[in-house]
Amino acid sequence: MLIARTTKDLTSTLTAWRQAGHEWAFVPTMGALHEGHLSLVRQAQQHTGRVVVSVFVNPTQFDRDDDLARYPRQPERDAEMLRSRGVDLLFLPSVEEIYPTGTQERRRPDLAGLDTRYEGAARPGHFDGVVQVVRRLVELVQPRVMLMGQKDAQQVAVLRRAAAQEFWPVEIVAAKIVREPSGLAMSSRNGQLSKTGFAKAAIINKCLNEAEAAWLAGQTPRKIEVAAQARLTASGLRPEYFDFIHADTFVQLPDLARQHQNDEVKPLIVVVAWLEGVRLIDNRPLDLPLRAESETSPNVAANL
Ligand code: PAF
Repeated sequence: MLIARTTKDLTSTLTAWRQAGHEWAFVPTMGALHEGHLSLVRQAQQHTGRVVVSVFVNPTQFDRDDDLARYPRQPERDAEMLRSRGVDLLFLPSVEEIYPTGTQERRRPDLAGLDTRYEGAARPGHFDGVVQVVRRLVELVQPRVMLMGQKDAQQVAVLRRAAAQEFWPVEIVAAKIVREPSGLAMSSRNGQLSKTGFAKAAIINKCLNEAEAAWLAGQTPRKIEVAAQARLTASGLRPEYFDFIHADTFVQLPDLARQHQNDEVKPLIVVVAWLEGVRLIDNRPLDLPLRAESETSPNVAANL
């Protein structure tokens, strides 16, 4: 595996690959790699002959300095994991390599409010930073396809919209959430939990399972949300949100019912809960759509 620490080294390798007729897939990461990232690497390997992974803790997407300082960094371990999985090129740049003229950015795609809800509201400026760094990485790496984890569903939605607005020449593929045997969604932040916390955090996935079952049984989103929040609280977590939303716009479903009169809405449950000072995020796409003119699920409407 080649390691490029500068944009110059990266570009000279990629130029040689292009001249030799190769195509490559790209997995952008902030390091502290886990099985979830490695599953993205495996899927990337199925898309193209070569795979480029970046490890870069992007300062512009953190709204709190302590969170940035605390973010796990283990580049040697990451490099070893990627080498053993057959990755072809690791891009490991410094902040100066990514932002040679500073971190100020004037380009802003119209994200139609997607960047101001949920994660955007909780972490102001977060998605500006994500779009800024991914735009830069795509410009530098020029991949045919880029793989992203569906765990950060809003990030995927924001990047798809930015890519469409600015004509990024890349296909964005979202890969399914990879879970621990307990059901906890894999995350670099899980390492900050104690052993007890790690076990306790499995309740988030249990709540998602129960919520999905309740939805399929015809309960209303609002009722399910309240029950899930109570269950998380009773288990010692602090829920920030547990909501049924529109998977593309991230508008909460009851509001959506009033906004989109005739659309068929594909719902997604999104959840953030705190445990031991760690912010845990997860989500669940729901297959059964909601007819937007009703605030109830189709089963309920049918049973009325
Ligand atoms: O999901 C992440 O790890 C980051 O937000 C990303 C996409 C690598 C941009 O820094």
